[in-house]
Amino acid sequence: MDYKKLIGKYKTPMFLYDSNVLCKRINYIKSKLNKDYKIIYAIKANTFILKELDDLVDGYEICSYGEYEICKHLSLNNEKFVISGVNKEEYYIEEMLNDNVTKYTIESLNHYLLFEKLTKKLHKKIKILIRLTSGNQFGVSKEDFIKVIELNKDNELIKIVGIEYFTGTQKSSIKKINHEIDYIVDFINEIENNYNLKIEEVEYGTGSPVFYFQEEFDENNYFDELNKALSKIKGKKISLEMGRTIASSCGQYITSIADIKSNKVGNTIILDGGINHLVYYGQTMAMRIPEFEIFPTREDEKKPYNLYGSLCTINDIILKKIELNSPQIGDYIVFKNTGAYSITEGIALFLSRELPCVVIYDKNGKDILVREHLRTSLINCPNIK
Ligand SMILES: Cc1ncc(COP(=O)(O)O)c(C=O)c1O
Repeated sequence: MDYKKLIGKYKTPMFLYDSNVLCKRINYIKSKLNKDYKIIYAIKANTFILKELDDLVDGYEICSYGEYEICKHLSLNNEKFVISGVNKEEYYIEEMLNDNVTKYTIESLNHYLLFEKLTKKLHKKIKILIRLTSGNQFGVSKEDFIKVIELNKDNELIKIVGIEYFTGTQKSSIKKINHEIDYIVDFINEIENNYNLKIEEVEYGTGSPVFYFQEEFDENNYFDELNKALSKIKGKKISLEMGRTIASSCGQYITSIADIKSNKVGNTIILDGGINHLVYYGQTMAMRIPEFEIFPTREDEKKPYNLYGSLCTINDIILKKIELNSPQIGDYIVFKNTGAYSITEGIALFLSRELPCVVIYDKNGKDILVREHLRTSLINCPNIK
């Protein structure tokens, strides 16, 4: 990767997403799982790579109107959409129904009533997955799950096709996954035996982990065990909602050194981007070291530096006591594994700094600017004179 050329062309801070790495990653995940399992990309992880992965995934989990607008703008096939999310508002559900989007999750009785009303009004047929709660604000209780089945008994427009179950991200414990799968299997048996409903599909949010801080993790074994656990669900169509594990490795966040000084805290580097764009799950106050590279490399004596972003908060520390060879203003640092959530979860509006540009490095090695640097002053400025 010719970072120097890219920086010269587009400037930092920059998110760079590598299409080849993304494709390899999805193919690896698929190679580890039963080929009948469908991969549903949770688009919240990164919406900029949607076109790059469109051929490789079976569906998209969409959780807000904004996410829907993005998919619509990109003309993605709406047969691949699963409209999810804890807050479903009438105006946009109506628009989606009119656009002939047919698959939705139900996270409350009110969601069901909304779909009952709108499908009748618009004469639309839909399929629903009922999201079973795992003990938080998401999904319905077992009791409400059964109420939805009963409410839907004679409904010709809504077909309950299955269960959605997502319990959280960064789930590395195979024991926990097995426990969840056993719970789903028991629940399916209970429903099928008592409520005259055939569960056709299980959409399971694996919450597969990404290790950002060079921890030991046998990923091959993890996927083998995940695959084995899922095989306990017999005779159902299985879809796996995945975000982080798909998107992380393809992303690099590139930021330049804007200033260097020594003060009471030691050798201090100020970068042109920081925690407003860079989120590593499990990181606080630079306690851990993510994978990164600094360019250009030099051979002189190393000294320890603290690296900060450009925000007005002491929290904006990125790397602590890192040994560097005489860094200089204009040098740049490439933070790895930033393809998932960094671009969306950072406190991007704080201090009205510009958002990074976004560059896709496509399959043929061509760089494509898919978002210019964006002024957040436009968002933070009141509309008065
Ligand atoms: C319902 C649902 N499915 C899937 C995901 C994706 O999770 P991950 O990025 O850990 O794969 C999330 C993340 O919040 C979610 O809420």
